[in-house]
Amino acid sequence: MDRFDRTTANVGNIMSLEHINLKVPDQDMAITFYSRALGLTRDPIIDFGKHNLWINAGDQQFHLPTGPAQVLRGVIGLVVPDLEKLQQRLDRTKKALSATQFNFKPYSSHIMVTCPWGNRIRCHSPENFNGMNLGIPYIEFDVPDASTKPISDFYSRVFNAPVIERKTSCCVQIGTLQTITFKEARREQKTYDGHHIAIYLADFSGPHAQLKKMGLITEESDANQYRFEDICNNRGNPVFQIEHEVRSLHHPLHGRNLVNRNADQTFFNYRKGYDFHD
Ligand SMILES: [Fe+2]
Repeated sequence: MDRFDRTTANVGNIMSLEHINLKVPDQDMAITFYSRALGLTRDPIIDFGKHNLWINAGDQQFHLPTGPAQVLRGVIGLVVPDLEKLQQRLDRTKKALSATQFNFKPYSSHIMVTCPWGNRIRCHSPENFNGMNLGIPYIEFDVPDASTKPISDFYSRVFNAPVIERKTSCCVQIGTLQTITFKEARREQKTYDGHHIAIYLADFSGPHAQLKKMGLITEESDANQYRFEDICNNRGNPVFQIEHEVRSLHHPLHGRNLVNRNADQTFFNYRKGYDFHD
């Protein structure tokens, strides 16, 4: 018997999940929630004024263009350096967001936070996330009954992604630190409102050829990006919709060094040399 199971260290073709795009109707409120309450950082390099807000969370981002609120059908995982400090920030922000859906509930291993428009964000401390100290390690989508197998097959076939398949869910592996889980939700499916995710691929053209053959490409954005929306079974019938912004590793924004402030620095406790998270 081999000493090591080398297959456990494999990664598939999806290198990273970089951002989640959710429209927000109110930029000031979005800043209050993502920056003041969650302690994340407004991208200081790429700034869109009142039209859009990019929020850095480790090596990932939330993109928040102005528009009718979009709500991800499921849960976003967020790792923060210190859960206790997060709870203090959430407490301090309660009043400012009291007229919204903003809410949070601490559990033994995490804090479940609801954004002003109903997005659910499960916040964890860094233990159990393979060295991620701040970032978005996973998304869990609620999907229709009997869609686990076709979704799992789709990501294996098109993206050569390792997928852990269970009875009513499947977990798509992304790079070494991230996953997307599709869970049969046993509740009414919400109408898809157009929120999207961005992924980076090592083999950029292979999936494109397959998606094109299936008639699934919705946008040929530029040399390093295309989009698709339907996840289909092997007969070509859609089982779930989520727009993927698919990028090559040559995309100019790939691997940007994102600035992440240390939100625990305040006017009252300021210490030199502790302004940023690595
Ligand atoms: Fe995007």
